[in-house]
Amino acid sequence: MPTSARRRTRAPNTVPFPVRDRRFDLSDVPRHWHPAGPAVSRFFDNLSLFFPQGEAFFIRSVKAFARELDDPALSDAVRRFYGQEAFHGREHRRYNRLLAGQGIPADAMEGRVARLLDRVQRRVPRRWQLAATCALEHFTASLAHGVLTDPRLLDGAHPTMAGLWRWHALEEFEHREVAFEVYRAAGGTPAERNLVMLATTLIFWAKVVEHQVRLMGHDGIAGDVGEWRRLVRFLFVEPGTLRRLIPTWLAWYRPGFHPADLGGVTA
Ligand SMILES: [Fe+2]
Ligand SMILES: [Fe+2]
Repeated sequence: MPTSARRRTRAPNTVPFPVRDRRFDLSDVPRHWHPAGPAVSRFFDNLSLFFPQGEAFFIRSVKAFARELDDPALSDAVRRFYGQEAFHGREHRRYNRLLAGQGIPADAMEGRVARLLDRVQRRVPRRWQLAATCALEHFTASLAHGVLTDPRLLDGAHPTMAGLWRWHALEEFEHREVAFEVYRAAGGTPAERNLVMLATTLIFWAKVVEHQVRLMGHDGIAGDVGEWRRLVRFLFVEPGTLRRLIPTWLAWYRPGFHPADLGGVTA
């Protein structure tokens, strides 16, 4: 990922991005909808279980500072960010109901995510909460960049699911600067956001592993070495979805990092 080492001085990219009210008919989506197999299907499902609560947390953490902004273009971008995340939350709630219909305890899993975020909201200073949102938005933007630049991630998938994930990826990529700019306007510092990134990385990815084990357990494949091997191959070798997150994660810590530098995609 090309990342500028210089300190960024230009104005944030506040070119108005659209808010797309997309609805997806999930009625004919099969249980295992990804051609790479059940474990890979469940990896995407795993992430979906975070979104309704996670995106509501993102919106709350940005709202806590939005009134203090004095840049009308950034305030407009913030409103568009709320709109995009709200529609994502709505469609992922519907996605997660589909999982519940398959016998997945989606309500309980979303409830655990909600309790974790409630604890963060009660115990962590609000600017740190915004830094955590920036960190998680960096993950979503990096994953989105992969979806948008490498068709192998979703090629051959059920078209509704491919469409849903590509829509979400495009909008995550479009609004990747918004929380970060609000954090900078709120006086956030690189040292603080680096520390919060470390904590967020540990907590979030531990939770992803926990979700994956639970989901595969419900499918009766938690002990299936072949399925785990296919998942690890998909994530770290070919197409290497998570392997490619490592350089973008490291880029976060470089002086002058800005999410605008995660480029190469024409939206
Ligand atoms: Fe989103
Ligand atoms: Fe987002």
